[in-house]
Amino acid sequence: MTQTLPTAAVLGARAFAALAGLNRFSDEPGKLTRLYLSPAHRQAAEWTRGAMEVAGLSAHIDAAGSVQGRREGAKPGAPSVMIGSHIDTVKDGGRFDGNLGVVAGILVAQALRDAGIVLPFPLEVVAFGDEENVRFPTSLSTSRALAGEYRQEWLDGRDTDGITLRDALLGFGCDPLGIPALARPPASVAAYLELHIEQGPVLEAEDEPVGIVTAINAQKRARVRVTGEAGHAGTVPMRLRRDALAAAAEMALALEEIASAHDQAVGTVGVFRPDPGATNVVPGAVDFTIDFRCPRNDTLASMDRAIATRFAEIAERRGVSLAISPYSHDDATPMAEPLQEALAAGIARTGANLKARRLPSGAGHDAMAMARLCPAAMLFVRNEKGISHSPLEAMTEADAGIAIRVMLETVLELARRAA
Ligand code: GLV
Ligand code: MN
Ligand code: MN
Repeated sequence: MTQTLPTAAVLGARAFAALAGLNRFSDEPGKLTRLYLSPAHRQAAEWTRGAMEVAGLSAHIDAAGSVQGRREGAKPGAPSVMIGSHIDTVKDGGRFDGNLGVVAGILVAQALRDAGIVLPFPLEVVAFGDEENVRFPTSLSTSRALAGEYRQEWLDGRDTDGITLRDALLGFGCDPLGIPALARPPASVAAYLELHIEQGPVLEAEDEPVGIVTAINAQKRARVRVTGEAGHAGTVPMRLRRDALAAAAEMALALEEIASAHDQAVGTVGVFRPDPGATNVVPGAVDFTIDFRCPRNDTLASMDRAIATRFAEIAERRGVSLAISPYSHDDATPMAEPLQEALAAGIARTGANLKARRLPSGAGHDAMAMARLCPAAMLFVRNEKGISHSPLEAMTEADAGIAIRVMLETVLELARRAA
């Protein structure tokens, strides 16, 4: 049966050609910036729907802006196998983060259709749109919609231009009232598989093209607002100032210190906006974000307490007020053992003598949300120099091809198990 399937080299070439098509769509010329529900996201979603249809899937853009494709299998009503990832990006992001996983799903569907293989289960491919959570204060909202964990209050969240998520959805052509109906019934999805660039250096250091994810780290994010008192930069004496930026800067350093003191933890201030932001004005307020992560839930809780205590102490000492608004909190998410085994079988079946290297994920993924609905697993692809969330993000065509071939073999392994 497998003789008619495309080789890894062919799949790699197809993937890079498809990525060149998909990554034409950006909100910023000369960069890859594709924020959730932006015009470039709309174009990318249309492109993805078209590519799914060419691959033999029936496809549509759903009420949350995800592109969903599906081909029925031999057993009507059987739980599906879903391959997914995301087509939104960070600002000035890389070409592979999310996009490769979507393209991989489409190429797997196309290869199976071309080989005339009818699976015992429906095959679904989903391109989520809100994995990066850059624009709105949400948490994996598009995959959580399928998992039945969408939070209605997200719809009132605003981007930096003051646009609510509800209005952005309407502008994209989506019906926010249709989001609850996206929730999949329990047991309707048998497996969720996601291929993703590693976004780290481990596979490169070990000279392995692919690896199997064991678990995704716990993570928490919050928006923080520090309010002091604006004043004239030339006239307000230092001892009388309530400088919001100086206080916020001290908080950013405190976060760095707290993360460095906890085992395998990381902490980041990625957005920092002083108000009014003028050379000759003492900053009256600062909005910033915090993002902290680690492998263990209890460590995350202890970091959370340390952050609250230190930030409050800094605010008190500097006479500024502080509001911390958490908007995303995920426990550490183990990946399903039987699916990790299926990926290992897929790796073995490529015949390329590869190791089934296991590794945890420091980055967040839609698989975290989908794991709340169904067994979920991830395959990582080697990332040159481990650089991601950057235009320098890179991988070889050969590695992309091997990884997609592994996904194809894994779906066939699941078909054997279901037969
Ligand atoms: C997603 O890329 C994240 O982990 O921030
Ligand atoms: Mn990603
Ligand atoms: Mn990312």
